[in-house]
Amino acid sequence: MKKEKTKHTQSRGQWASKMGFVLAAAGSAIGLGNIWKFPGKVGLYGGGAFLLCYILIVAFIGFPAMLAELSLGRHTQKNVVGAFTKLRKHWAVAGFINVISPFIIMSYYCIVGGWVLKYIWVYLSGANFGGGADQYQTYFNTFVQQPIEPLLWGVFFLALCVFVVLRGVSGGIEKVSKFLMPCLFILLVAIVVRAVTLPGAMEGVKYMLTVRPEQLSADTVVGAMGQAFFSLSVGMSILVTYGSYVPKEENLAKSAAWICALDTLAAVLAAFAIIPVVFVTLGAEGIGMGGSFAFMALPEVFASLPAGGLIGLAFFLLLFLAALTSAISILEGCVAFVSEEFHLSRVKSTLILLAPLILLGAGYSLSQAADRGINLPWFDFAGGFRMLPMWDVMERFTDNFTIPLGALLVCLFVGWVWGAKNATLEIQSGGMFAFKIHKAWEFIVRFIAPAMILIILFCTIGLGKGLS
Ligand code: PFF
Repeated sequence: MKKEKTKHTQSRGQWASKMGFVLAAAGSAIGLGNIWKFPGKVGLYGGGAFLLCYILIVAFIGFPAMLAELSLGRHTQKNVVGAFTKLRKHWAVAGFINVISPFIIMSYYCIVGGWVLKYIWVYLSGANFGGGADQYQTYFNTFVQQPIEPLLWGVFFLALCVFVVLRGVSGGIEKVSKFLMPCLFILLVAIVVRAVTLPGAMEGVKYMLTVRPEQLSADTVVGAMGQAFFSLSVGMSILVTYGSYVPKEENLAKSAAWICALDTLAAVLAAFAIIPVVFVTLGAEGIGMGGSFAFMALPEVFASLPAGGLIGLAFFLLLFLAALTSAISILEGCVAFVSEEFHLSRVKSTLILLAPLILLGAGYSLSQAADRGINLPWFDFAGGFRMLPMWDVMERFTDNFTIPLGALLVCLFVGWVWGAKNATLEIQSGGMFAFKIHKAWEFIVRFIAPAMILIILFCTIGLGKGLS
């Protein structure tokens, strides 16, 4: 605990320990993106090739971008909009772009979090997933196409996040993360051990470790970069906000390295937990199913294993823990922005955000129903125009557009406007820490990262594969 805090930092909260900050930021990073999206993308983009691109992108683009955000946050001691405007007034718009993504993501994150809660409920209550052929697919489709029930589970999930965020930075977010993150890793490792010791699992392990050169395409690189940003929570205001709660005595570069390492470890472990199991039960064809396999294929896979009910429960608990710590951070990014920029209390700011979040979430949830061919006449408007792919639009808009754009603006701002040298001084905490790779970092933030992100932005307009 820091003995001396300025009045300002005291009023806006501060991490009580280094470990607490790293775990909270890792909790933000490790989420549905790692466990729901990542294994699906490894399958979709061809195993080892994707894995290799992903790791390189995290190290050479994700880590530098993360450090740029953390340093901007700690230097300004502000939410993302405040951070930009404190240094340059007319850069407010860049801050707003960084807030759009978490706001949209939060609305659908809660709905998917609600699906996870529903599955935990099914496993816990001993109910089964219906019967007959394709029972798991039918179960999921029937559930998500209901107008009310998925929304109620989503609101319940949102209420849990609100509860933690209202308890503040170190009293709520830090405490919860310190407890939940180790639980998450223990569960993940247990599932991996079970998965890779299944007879025939080595096929799946081989698939992930073999780099097929023909899979090293632009498409794979674009997919890996989008996934890396989403997964590291880069370009979404969170890291600036969380950075603003970090005391000067913390080594930012080391913390960022830890966060990237933990996030990548969780993603790779999740892939090792899921892909071998899918190979064993569904064969190589099962691998291309994308994100929906967490809800449709995996329960079927678990049911075919000894003690499958327990493994299923463990998996959905894991998904829940991951989703919760991430959703808390997303909400915190939005709450910090509203409370600081509009001078409102945290409680008021949180409450103000609830209605639009639930509304947008309802749109996401209902469009899942409409997309499955269900007739919701009250959901049609303007002469039969349907918001059918709203869920798809929301994910693509953020993954392919606002997130890379947010990250690009942060890199340009830190690299050229605030100045990479000034950021280096912040990272070094005025000489307290040697940041030996600062020249390479400055070069990446000024040239390489913006160039790569621009390429991604152009490519994703036409490329990028959706995952749900
Ligand atoms: N990084 C999280 C994940 O991988 O699921 C998702 C996320 C966290 C998105 C924080 C947005 C955000 F602001």
